[in-house]
Amino acid sequence: MSIIIDGNKIAQDIRQAVREETLVLTRRTGVVPGLAVVLAGDDPASKVYVRRKAKACEEAGFLSREYKLPADVGEAELLDLIRDLNNDRQIHGILVQLPLPKHIVTDKIIAAIDPHKDVDGFHPANVGRLVTGSPLFVPCTPRGIMELIARTGIGLSGKDAVVIGRSNIVGKPMSFLLLAQNATVTMCHSKTKDLPAVARRADVLIAAVGKPRMITADMVKEGAVVIDVGVNRLESGKLAGDVAFDEVAPKTSAITPVPGGVGPMTIAMLMKNTLDAARLHF
Ligand code: GUN
Repeated sequence: MSIIIDGNKIAQDIRQAVREETLVLTRRTGVVPGLAVVLAGDDPASKVYVRRKAKACEEAGFLSREYKLPADVGEAELLDLIRDLNNDRQIHGILVQLPLPKHIVTDKIIAAIDPHKDVDGFHPANVGRLVTGSPLFVPCTPRGIMELIARTGIGLSGKDAVVIGRSNIVGKPMSFLLLAQNATVTMCHSKTKDLPAVARRADVLIAAVGKPRMITADMVKEGAVVIDVGVNRLESGKLAGDVAFDEVAPKTSAITPVPGGVGPMTIAMLMKNTLDAARLHF
């Protein structure tokens, strides 16, 4: 029997726990966790995410500040804002929504964020800490996926994990988190030879590609755990994951749906990271 992993429910439980822990922190210390979200330009999907993040902050009892900048904002202006936020004692977490407008060098902006406020876990210092096994902030989506896998009850030690997609936001940090739990990790990408054969080895298969329904039943081992990170808008307007859910689900021991799987976990983990950031000050 395949378990459909209920990301909405798990994310809700985590957000409730964050709210309760925040109440205790604020009551004991007076500290209100503060998150600043910076949005440059008007990418419609980014606007939706930023709105959801602000709402989640309010629910959690956080201070939430949004900085909306025009698409033609200069790099210097953005760097000035980050410097101010680094020095702002009310702000514990800084998130610059990606992608940034093309004329801005993303790496330069990320490197300007104080690593102790980098709740996205994208700063090179935080990437390095993850790779060397002493993480401070872990990127939210992979952290959420680890939580989902943990709740299936399957242990990762010695298991074959295959990650498809090598983005800095999901694929790469995901691979290091799985490795830290003693999985044998294979990272696949667009140049991987015979992807179906590699994918079929997976006890745990993570699809983070951005191609609707590209993981078909022939690519999945019987009893595998399948995590679908894809959020692809079809021409019909419907959302589809990277996994062909209807044909793959019956072969799996557990699988995440789209929507309602990985997606809600990203914001839940952002709340957790921001609470952790606020605690760093004590
Ligand atoms: N764009 C897509 N996912 C993310 C994320 O997790 N953080 C930020 N900052 N931007 C994103």
